[in-house]
Amino acid sequence: MSKVHLKVRILRFNPETDKKPHWKEYEVETEENAQVLDVLHQIKWYQDGTLTLRRSCAHGICGSDAMVINGRNRLACKTLVKDVAPRLTVEPIRGLPVIKDLVVDMEPFFAKYREVMPWLINTTKPPEHERLQSPEDRARFDDTTKCILCAACTTSCPSFWANGRYIGPAAIVQAHRWIFDSRDQATAERLQILNDRFGVWSCRTAFNCVEACPREINITKAIGEVKKALLYGTTEF
Ligand code: SF4
Ligand code: F3S
Ligand code: FES
Repeated sequence: MSKVHLKVRILRFNPETDKKPHWKEYEVETEENAQVLDVLHQIKWYQDGTLTLRRSCAHGICGSDAMVINGRNRLACKTLVKDVAPRLTVEPIRGLPVIKDLVVDMEPFFAKYREVMPWLINTTKPPEHERLQSPEDRARFDDTTKCILCAACTTSCPSFWANGRYIGPAAIVQAHRWIFDSRDQATAERLQILNDRFGVWSCRTAFNCVEACPREINITKAIGEVKKALLYGTTEF
């Protein structure tokens, strides 16, 4: 495996001592197939224990390590050194309050997620086993089930940067997952929540969200389908 000498710049901010964020530079010897997350760990564990970041699974599943890497929203654990070398810049995702260094306050993001009622709503008596669904009906929302709530999409969206009241692509993706689920009965309520100037109508089809999504979800297609359901008054199209 080839060794790589990496120059790393990280946007640091400690609210207890800093008035504003500032860049700090590090040099790291690593391998081309290492993850950016490994590089950040190397810095934290061997050079500067004050570096603060959030991560858990290290395998692209938990969604906790979205950050701006060389100018693009990505997961640190899904980005390899060979794709960013020889210079790596890391910043916190934009549009959410920075708590410290690369850790942002996710609460405003999760509040919008909760707004779309992201759970099955069906008041009929549950059957003895699972509520059945045809493969075709299941395929209708397959793409949007892949979301890991990393916030890379919402925090790359110019409409969200311009107005933080925009519900954002992640919440729309999550709403789509239930709106197009044939077992759910709250389609009208969820559509009503999104039928607002800070709902789907804030999306200006900028496509940043699609580029940012580590799960390769076709977010603009999902947003388009929700808009269509609102305009047609039905999900049957
Ligand atoms: Fe992350 Fe993609 Fe879900 Fe957005 S849609 S929160 S980018 S996984
Ligand atoms: Fe924003 Fe994506 Fe729409 S980047 S404007 S939500 S297409
Ligand atoms: Fe879990 Fe990266 S650490 S997605």
